Amino acid sequence: MVYLTRKVEFCASHRYYIDEKSEEENLKLFGKCSYPHGHGHNYILEVTVKGDVNPQTGMVMNLTDIDKILKDVVVETMDHKFLNLDIPEFKDKIPTTENLVLYIWDSLVDAIDGCSLHRVRLHEDPFLYAEFYGE
Ligand code: NI
Repeated sequence: MVYLTRKVEFCASHRYYIDEKSEEENLKLFGKCSYPHGHGHNYILEVTVKGDVNPQTGMVMNLTDIDKILKDVVVETMDHKFLNLDIPEFKDKIPTTENLVLYIWDSLVDAIDGCSLHRVRLHEDPFLYAEFYGE
C-alpha cells in the first residue's frame, strides 16, 4: 500500500457567526472571526490517496486525474469565494476548518477512481490545520 499526497492552494473568506446569538455573544464566542465583513485565508489542501502501485504506470493514481479532480471539485468551487454565502453547504453551518475538511472529503470521496481516499488535511494558515480520515 502506497500513500500519495497532492497539495493544492485556494483563497477564500468566511465569517464565524451564529444567527440566533447577539453580536456581543458572537464576539465572545468567535472573537475577531465574528466581525461582520469576514476575513480571508490562503488555504492549503493536502489530499492523500492510497492504493497499490500500478506495475505498468508506476503510479497509485494518475496525477493528471488527481489534478483535474482537485481543480474541478475544490478550486473552482472554493477559490476566491465567500464560503458562507457561495457554498450552499455553509448556509446554516459555520465554515470552520473542521467543517471545511468534512465538506471537502464528501466532495472528493466518490470522485477518486482506481484507489481510495485516505486523508484530507486542510491548512487554514501555517499554524492551524484540520484533517479527516473518513471516520
Ligand atoms: Ni478564519
